[in-house]
Amino acid sequence: MKIEKVKEHIGGIVHVDKADLCKPEVVAEIKAALEDRGALVFPQIHLTDAEQLAFTDAFGERVNFTKQAPGSDVTADDVYKITLDRKFNQEPDYVYGTWFWHVDGVTIDQPLPKATMLSARKLSGEGGQTEFASTFAAWEQLPEDQKRAIEHLKVIHRLEASMRPLYVEMPEERLNRYRSMAREMLHPLVWTQIDGRKSLVLGTHADEIVGMSIPEGRSLLSRLTEWAAQPDFTYRHEWQEGDFVIWNNCGLMHRVVPYDADSGRSMHRTTIMGTERLGVPLESVQAA
Ligand code: OGA
Ligand code: MN
Repeated sequence: MKIEKVKEHIGGIVHVDKADLCKPEVVAEIKAALEDRGALVFPQIHLTDAEQLAFTDAFGERVNFTKQAPGSDVTADDVYKITLDRKFNQEPDYVYGTWFWHVDGVTIDQPLPKATMLSARKLSGEGGQTEFASTFAAWEQLPEDQKRAIEHLKVIHRLEASMRPLYVEMPEERLNRYRSMAREMLHPLVWTQIDGRKSLVLGTHADEIVGMSIPEGRSLLSRLTEWAAQPDFTYRHEWQEGDFVIWNNCGLMHRVVPYDADSGRSMHRTTIMGTERLGVPLESVQAA
């Protein structure tokens, strides 16, 4: 196996024989590379769903997303098809939400998913590149005075906030749906993980900074997001059919360049459960 660096702070290309993918020593090396590189590309490895699930299980505990993800095909076994194709997805909001910077699973009260895995099954003509930004690098490279100013802050994350870019006026039925599906979560802005590594927790779901006015908090969040999205900290993946990409959801945010809903673009996704909780439900703090 060979792993090539893409950029100093982010990106790795993994050359491995598909037959070796689930060997314990290979999995261990991929895990280490995921910590170091954030996003890993396996060019044109063409995994079947069964092969992707086998690798997912070799890597960690799989999150059963198919039963949870709106519009997903519940007959598929833990493989969530990311597509805007109306035949497969009757509730496309969550996929349109991927066009904006986000972290997966932030508004669910469970350990933050460790890694997301996507296989490119069908590409769109225009657009459809997936972009990743290292929020580890964004924290590390922040000037010291700015680090001190923000390291104690707490942020309220809401699913509805990540859906606001989809509407001029959000229909009440949608708002109620988002509120019923997710929790308001209180997360640290700067997350210190068990191994001591720190990352910024950003994305469209980050809605309000505790102790700040709404405009002050949102301005800071948007400035930090711009900082984190600078070219040095980001990698944009130009997909080829059969590419498999995995990323460290605990230290990266991601988004996709808009693509035509009728293009049939389809990505097959599996998710690895994390071991650490990022924060707590807001109501658990308010009740205390
Ligand atoms: C995801 C996601 C981006 C893409 O699967 O969580 O954000 O490129 N996908 O489809
Ligand atoms: Mn996502």
